[in-house]
This record gives sequence, C-alpha cells and structure tokens, in this order.
Amino acid sequence: MSRGGECAWDPVQYQRNAGYVPELGEPLLRLLAPQAGERILDLGCGDGALTRHLVDAGCTVVGVDASAEMIAAAQARGIDAHVMDGHALHFDAPFDAVFSNAALHWMTEPDAVLAGVHRALVPGGRFVGEFGGHGNVAHIVAALVGALAARGIDIDCPWYFPTPEDYRVRLGAAGLVVDAIESFARPTPLPGDVGGWLQTFGKPYLARMPAAGRDACVAELVETLRSDLCDEAGRWHADYVRLRFVAHRPAGG
Ligand code: BEZ
Repeated sequence: MSRGGECAWDPVQYQRNAGYVPELGEPLLRLLAPQAGERILDLGCGDGALTRHLVDAGCTVVGVDASAEMIAAAQARGIDAHVMDGHALHFDAPFDAVFSNAALHWMTEPDAVLAGVHRALVPGGRFVGEFGGHGNVAHIVAALVGALAARGIDIDCPWYFPTPEDYRVRLGAAGLVVDAIESFARPTPLPGDVGGWLQTFGKPYLARMPAAGRDACVAELVETLRSDLCDEAGRWHADYVRLRFVAHRPAGG
C-alpha cells in the first residue's frame, strides 16, 4: 500500500479489519498473468499477502512499501521486501512487470511515482494496477471531513483518487502506453462495522484530533454513516470505486 510514513501501521489490525484487500486483489493478479521466472516489483506490497502469490507462481519478486511495520510482516512471509517511498523508486536491475494493488492512492505525487515505474521496467515491461478512483469512499470521506470541521479542523484529502482520464494522461506523459483503463464501483462488504475501517484507514484524519477524543469520534461516525453503508440486516460495506489499468513501457522507449 506504500502507506504514508506519518501514520504507523499495525499488521495485526490490518489483517483483522482489511483482510479482504489482498483477497479482492486476485482478479488483478489474473490480469497480470505472472509467468514463472519473471522479475516483478510489487509497489506498495503491504504485509505481502498478495505478493506471496507471485512468489508461489515462480516469479522473482521484490516488494516495497513505505511502512516499516508492513515490510517486517512481508519479510516474515519470506518476501524480499524493502522499505521504500513509492515516489522515489530506485532499482539497478529492471523488472518485467510492476504490480500494484490498493496502494497508489497513498502516493499523492503520481508523476514522481510513474517516472520511477518507467525507470524500473524493461522495454516492453508491463504495469498492472488497481487503486481508489474518483469518488472512492465518498461517504466516508465526507463524514470524516464533517467530523473534523465540527472540531474546527480543516484537512485536504490525504489520498489520490483520479478519474481514468486523468490517470491515462499521466501514464502517457510518463512514457507508458495504456492498454486498458477503467473505473467501476465496488461496494465492499466489511468484516464488522465501519469503525474498523476508520481505525485502520482513517488515521490521516483521526491523527489530526486529540487522542482522547478519537474513539468517541469513530463511534459518532459509525452512526453518521449507518444509513448509507449499513443494510437492514446490519451488514456494512465500504463505498469503494476502483481504477484498474494495464499499461506497458514501449519496446523502444
Ligand atoms: C482504498 O483501498 O480504496 C482505500 C484504502 C484506504 C484509504 C483510502 C482508500
């Protein structure tokens, strides 16, 4: 996820509240179609749950993530994983593919990321990814912004959720050829109520308020969001929008 360095990540909390993230990344793995022997960079590998599938497919895999806690968890799965800022990728050996699931929205300077991806790929190498698209978790973001505003705190969205048009232009400007790009709503069932999501992913917002008031704020947000994100049977979902793409570095570029 190349989750920002300013908030600490807890791999145990992540697996409890967000174990669905690597599971839902499996269609993206199929799009990548990894072949044994390929060298693959997993950009924003998190705790390595999905990365492990690439290793098991016989690929030579390097995982990078900005979170030292997540990288330690990935290394414990036997992955060659390194703490690295996705905005400053540096590799001597090129990769046949760069893969990224549910991570690029944490990297708010996409042009720097894409320049590094281009450098990391062999000519002909592919870049396959999925992350939050325009409108992603819109109800949750609006509720968080509202809760902070009520406490006199103003905050810009800490995530990058582009339209396909925006990202297509950036991929092209970085010298990558777009083979496919689409955005789609993917309402995602949560393992509990939205409080777990907020405690896991809402940290950039919650960190802006005094620690003593955070749990009460999360409880208040659960009630604010109940009518939009919880059905009559008490099942919660997050209002995810995904941006999915396949691109490649041209043979001569
Ligand atoms: C996402 O996967 O779309 C996401 C996760 C955490 C924060 C924001 C978005």
